[in-house]
Amino acid sequence: MTISLAQLRRCSAAIDIGAARTRVYVKNQGLVVDEPTVAAINTRSGALLAVGAQAEVMDGRTPDYIRVVRPVSNGTVVDIDMAQRLLRTLVGDKLRKTWRRRPTMRAAVCLPYGSEPLAQRAAVETLTGLGARRVELVDTLVAAAVGCGLPVEQPEATMIVVCGAGTTQVAVLSLGSIVAAETVPVGGNAIDHAVIQHLRLHHELMLAGQAVRPLQLILSGGDGVTPGSTEVHGRDVISGMARSVHVDTERVRDAITTPLTSILDGIGAVLRRCPPDLVADLGERGIVLAGGSALIPGLEPMIHQATNMPVHTADHPDTCAVMGLGAMIEGKVQPLHLDPMDP
Ligand SMILES: Nc1ncnc2c1ncn2[C@@H]1O[C@H](COP(=O)(O)OP(=O)(O)OP(=O)(O)O)[C@@H](O)[C@H]1O
Ligand SMILES: [Mg+2]
Repeated sequence: MTISLAQLRRCSAAIDIGAARTRVYVKNQGLVVDEPTVAAINTRSGALLAVGAQAEVMDGRTPDYIRVVRPVSNGTVVDIDMAQRLLRTLVGDKLRKTWRRRPTMRAAVCLPYGSEPLAQRAAVETLTGLGARRVELVDTLVAAAVGCGLPVEQPEATMIVVCGAGTTQVAVLSLGSIVAAETVPVGGNAIDHAVIQHLRLHHELMLAGQAVRPLQLILSGGDGVTPGSTEVHGRDVISGMARSVHVDTERVRDAITTPLTSILDGIGAVLRRCPPDLVADLGERGIVLAGGSALIPGLEPMIHQATNMPVHTADHPDTCAVMGLGAMIEGKVQPLHLDPMDP
C-alpha cells in the first residue's frame, strides 16, 4: 500500500470498514456514518431487513428465517455483496448526491497493515461495486496516527497501537512511513470471548454477546469504584433456565489477561525490530493507543507495566483512523512532510 497525498486529495470519501463498525467520512461534510458492521437478512426472500445498530440489537433474538450477518472479519471483507448492500443502505442519500455530481468518484479505504492481496482486492471490489472509479488503499496505522495528531512526518519515532475488534496493529512510524509493524489477530472480540468462556467454565452460565459490555464497564470502574463482585444475568448451561450469579471482578480481569498478553507480544516484537535510536525516542514520547478496544479497562496500565514507557490513549480512539483518512482527503496533511517523493 502506498500513500500518494495528491491522489488522496482527489477522493471524495474516506471509508473504514471494520469488523465491528463501519465509518464513512465525506469530504466537506465530516463523519456521516458510524454504525455497527451488521446486517439482518430474511433468508426466505433474501431481503435486507435492517443494518447497523438496528440489526445489531436483533443479534441472538431472531426467528429461524432471519439471519444476522457480519460481512467483515479480521479486517477483511469476507462477503463483498453483503458489505455493498450494507454500505449502500448506511450511506444512502449522504453519498448519492456527491456521487451523482461527480461521476468519477474516488474513495479512500483504510486496511490493516500487511493485508493480503486478496483482502485488498475485496475492499476495492466492494467500493467499485458502489460506483467508485478508483480506490486508494491506506494503512490503518498511518491513518490512525494522523487522526491522533501524532507528528508522523518528523524524523522522530512515534509508536501507535490500534486495538480494533478483530485485529491489533502495532507500528513505529518515522518520517511518515512505517519503520516496523505487526498485526496481531487478537482484539476486542477475543477479549469478549475470554469473558464468555470464563463465565461458562467457572459459573456454568451462558452469556449473550451483548451482555459482555456492561461487565466491562463495571471492570473499568466507570464511577470511580470497582466493586469486588458484580451480578450477571444469563442462562444456566445445564438446566437452560435464566439465572444470575455474582462474579468476582478480579477473576474476570485474570481471564482477559491471555488475549491481552498477545497484544503485549506484538508490541515487544515491533520494539525488537526497531533501530535503537528510535527506541530511545519512544522512551520519552511513549506509546499512543487508538481503536475502540483501547477503552478496555486495564489495557493502558498493563502496557505501561510491560514496556516501562509512558502510554496515552487518544482522545477519540475509535474514530482516529477514519478521521485521519478524512484529514488526508481534505488535504490537511502537508504533502512534503508525509511523502517526500510527492511532487
Ligand atoms: N468503552 C469500551 N470498552 C471496552 N471495549 C470497547 C469500548 N468501546 C468499544 N469497545 C470495543 O472496541 C471494539 C471496536 O473497536 P473498533 O471500532 O476500533 O473496531 P473495528 O475498527 O470495527 O475493528 P477492526 O479494526 O479490527 O476491523 C469492539 O470489540 C468493542 O467491544
Ligand atoms: Mg478499525
